[in-house]
Amino acid sequence: MDNLYGILKSAHSGWRYIVFVLLVVAVINALSGWLGKKTYTEGNRKLNVFTLISAHIQLLFGLVLYFISPLTKLPASEAIGRYWKMEHISMMILAIILITIGNSKSKKITDGVAKHKAIAIFFGLALVIIIGAIFMMVKADPSKTFFGVS
Ligand code: HEM
Repeated sequence: MDNLYGILKSAHSGWRYIVFVLLVVAVINALSGWLGKKTYTEGNRKLNVFTLISAHIQLLFGLVLYFISPLTKLPASEAIGRYWKMEHISMMILAIILITIGNSKSKKITDGVAKHKAIAIFFGLALVIIIGAIFMMVKADPSKTFFGVS
């Protein structure tokens, strides 16, 4: 179990950069497609799907960690326990739901600019929530840093 914990902890810690970079690039592309009234290309679609898949993989790592990490067993009466028991999971799941909705909306819409708009809004909100959650992590848990990988 200790081994599994170590592997998943490193995987979840490092994978966040994949999610983060894909999400930032997807939001920038979607904003420029929406505001610049560009066509929605196959490259745009693939980028958005890869972003979605990366977020779902992060969710899987996180779900297992939630049950085996010692951090989620800390008392909720303290900020660190509250963060790991409730705040991290709820904010990150909300962000992943937004990414999932944004992607499925963009698939249903036929107009290219409107597809870009759906991605820009939903992925953009998810990005803000993820950054907020990581800021809260640094405040609540002194052993974590914004960019530190463990
Ligand atoms: C996009 C989504 C997510 C991002 C960007 C993210 C990011 C992070 C980061 C940066 C850490 C600290 C890693 C470190 O120590 O270096 C962490 C830890 C953790 N995450 Fe997430 N996370 C996400 C989703 C989730 C979800 C959905 C869950 C639960 C279902 C979860 C559960 C956990 C747990 C339990 C830890 C503590 C691991 C430990 O150190 O024992 N995460 N996450």
